[in-house]
Amino acid sequence: MATLTSAQHVFMFLWIIGSVAAGDLKAKPGKDVTLPCNNPTGSAVTKLVWSRPGLKDKYVFFFRDNRSYETNQDPRYHGRVELKDLQMKNGVASVVLKNVDIDDSGTYECEVTISSISLPVQSINLTVSKEDSEDSVEVRANAGENVTLQCNSSTDAAITKIKWDRPDLKGLSVFFFRDNKLHEIYQNLRYRGRVERKDPEMKNGNASVLLKNVTVNDTGMYQCWVTTPNMPGKLLRSVHLIVSERPPKVPSSKVGLGVALGLVCPLVGVAGFALGRHVGLKSKSGPL
Ligand SMILES: *[C@@H]1O[C@H](CO)[C@@H](O)[C@H](O)[C@H]1NC(C)=O
Ligand SMILES: *[C@@H]1O[C@H](CO)[C@@H](O)[C@H](O)[C@H]1NC(C)=O
Ligand SMILES: *[C@@H]1O[C@H](CO)[C@@H](O)[C@H](O)[C@H]1NC(C)=O
Ligand SMILES: *[C@@H]1O[C@H](CO)[C@@H](O)[C@H](O)[C@H]1NC(C)=O
Ligand SMILES: *[C@@H]1O[C@H](CO)[C@@H](O)[C@H](O)[C@H]1NC(C)=O
Ligand SMILES: *[C@@H]1O[C@H](CO)[C@@H](O)[C@H](O)[C@H]1NC(C)=O
Ligand SMILES: *[C@@H]1O[C@H](CO)[C@@H](O)[C@H](O)[C@H]1NC(C)=O
Repeated sequence: MATLTSAQHVFMFLWIIGSVAAGDLKAKPGKDVTLPCNNPTGSAVTKLVWSRPGLKDKYVFFFRDNRSYETNQDPRYHGRVELKDLQMKNGVASVVLKNVDIDDSGTYECEVTISSISLPVQSINLTVSKEDSEDSVEVRANAGENVTLQCNSSTDAAITKIKWDRPDLKGLSVFFFRDNKLHEIYQNLRYRGRVERKDPEMKNGNASVLLKNVTVNDTGMYQCWVTTPNMPGKLLRSVHLIVSERPPKVPSSKVGLGVALGLVCPLVGVAGFALGRHVGLKSKSGPL
């Protein structure tokens, strides 16, 4: 069975590395937040468990055999958690946590089981806060489109470095700009030639970039790091990009709307992030 083989393969690969850190999310109170969870195999999910390390025996979200169960759900999450994609197409196992509050801040873990194989736990840190930086935003696009990844720096100071990363990809950046030029050697191959600055004049410290001709494989979390002469590299923005297959060319088609397709490459990506984080991927991307 190809499905099982592929799941096993991914499992073994990730197992060596241990649990996987998927990234950090920020939101303001009252917002709905997508907690991303990837299933690198793309196979249908048998069981999906979202939990928080502090909640003993209680779940944030529990899904098995195509339905969710509230029995052991922690009361604070009743009615607030939904699957992002009802049919978990391509194995996306993300959920939406609605109307977040400050005390929703903390670590969330998802565990995906396919057939009887559990993939390593993925974890994400959510910070809900009134102050501080902007919310993480979600951007949806269809394959083939150009997408702006917005990142504003509030400072007037000249930007010395802009780095866009995808934490789930190994080592190299999505975009690496320093001393007024793009450094392709620090750029992941799949992004070379596809990312450019929106505002080459750096007006108002704008660190937004244009990602061209997106594919479903560009789905993921993008983080914008900006450095100025008096500010060391700072995470200014997280953008969760979801790219759907281009809707079929049928007149008045509503197909494809909101169908988020899964990450196809995380075998390397997810594992790579864990590795990268723990062996100092930052230094590979050049000094800050
Ligand atoms: C989340 O927070 C915990 C505790 O503060 C930390 O150990 C962990 O590395 C963080 N994970 C990520 C993905 O940032
Ligand atoms: C799961 O539920 C969805 C939506 O209700 C349905 O389309 C799909 O066929 C179901 N899958 C299985 C394996 O039962
Ligand atoms: C994307 O941008 C490129 C140039 O930057 C342009 O040639 C192309 O037409 C754009 N594609 C779309 C779908 O807008
Ligand atoms: C970036 O700044 C511009 C101009 O100040 C503003 O219109 C835009 O909404 C900002 N974008 C974000 C994502 O904050
Ligand atoms: C930054 O660039 C984005 C995208 O072009 C634009 O919408 C925004 O207004 C710009 N912000 C500033 C402050 O120039
Ligand atoms: C956009 O990407 C697709 C698939 O990756 C490729 O076939 C196509 O040639 C690309 N289009 C442009 C304008 O680069
Ligand atoms: C996405 O990645 C997979 C695996 O690397 C590859 O087989 C597939 O062609 C890619 N799809 C697109 C649209 O680039």
